[in-house]
Amino acid sequence: MAGTTEAVAAAKRAAGYQAAGMVEDEMVIGLGTGSTVLYMIERLSGRVRDGLSVSGVPTSYQTAMKAREYGIPLTTLDDNPVLDLAIDGADQIDPQLRMIKGRGAALTREKCVAAAAFRFIVVADDTKMVSRLSGVVPVETIPFATKTAMGQLRGLGCRPFIREAVKKDGPVITDNGNFIVDCQFDEIADPAALEAALAMIPGVVESGLFTRFSKNTTVIIGNEKKCKVLTSADVVP
Ligand code: 5RP
Repeated sequence: MAGTTEAVAAAKRAAGYQAAGMVEDEMVIGLGTGSTVLYMIERLSGRVRDGLSVSGVPTSYQTAMKAREYGIPLTTLDDNPVLDLAIDGADQIDPQLRMIKGRGAALTREKCVAAAAFRFIVVADDTKMVSRLSGVVPVETIPFATKTAMGQLRGLGCRPFIREAVKKDGPVITDNGNFIVDCQFDEIADPAALEAALAMIPGVVESGLFTRFSKNTTVIIGNEKKCKVLTSADVVP
């Protein structure tokens, strides 16, 4: 069953459920986006029904809608600028707990919420663990400056493509009203330097590189039998 769709779903569920178990009474938490986080929300809703008091800052319309459906009280970063923890998924995680996120186009709010949290819990199946970050880095850009930003993105050594919507003609529009430019890199030699360089480009709102959270990150790699937990103590310098 390893590697099958069912196995991946079971791993995601196990990771999501374990993360939901780490939420404590009265916490204000960041709610990430994606299929693994949806399992966390499902399990958390059961704990809320059993009396756990918690509120969540959603990072996308998808998460907000699901959390409302599951009876999880919502709040905002305006009302709660400091969060106890944030729980989110990832697309790639390297041995230093640096990540690429943004397949779901929610990377900007996800980074804001992770940065506001004391602790960042990342839930994933083991296909997300990589020895080196590589491939596509999603970048959110304002439509006004996307063309000029793409020129500068090319200068950083990637091939940039505006992400196309699936059930809509034209580009994906993010929850912030922007575009996503998927930047195909042949290699990412220094993820932190690339994240900084991307942030310097006018018109770039955020990138899906998350390289600054390793110290307060816990990664839960889902497994039906026993999840594997990685923290900064496991990072090889
Ligand atoms: C959305 C994200 C997701 O967290 C990431 O794509 C993981 O998703 P999934 O849990 O469905 O594999 O970054 O922008």
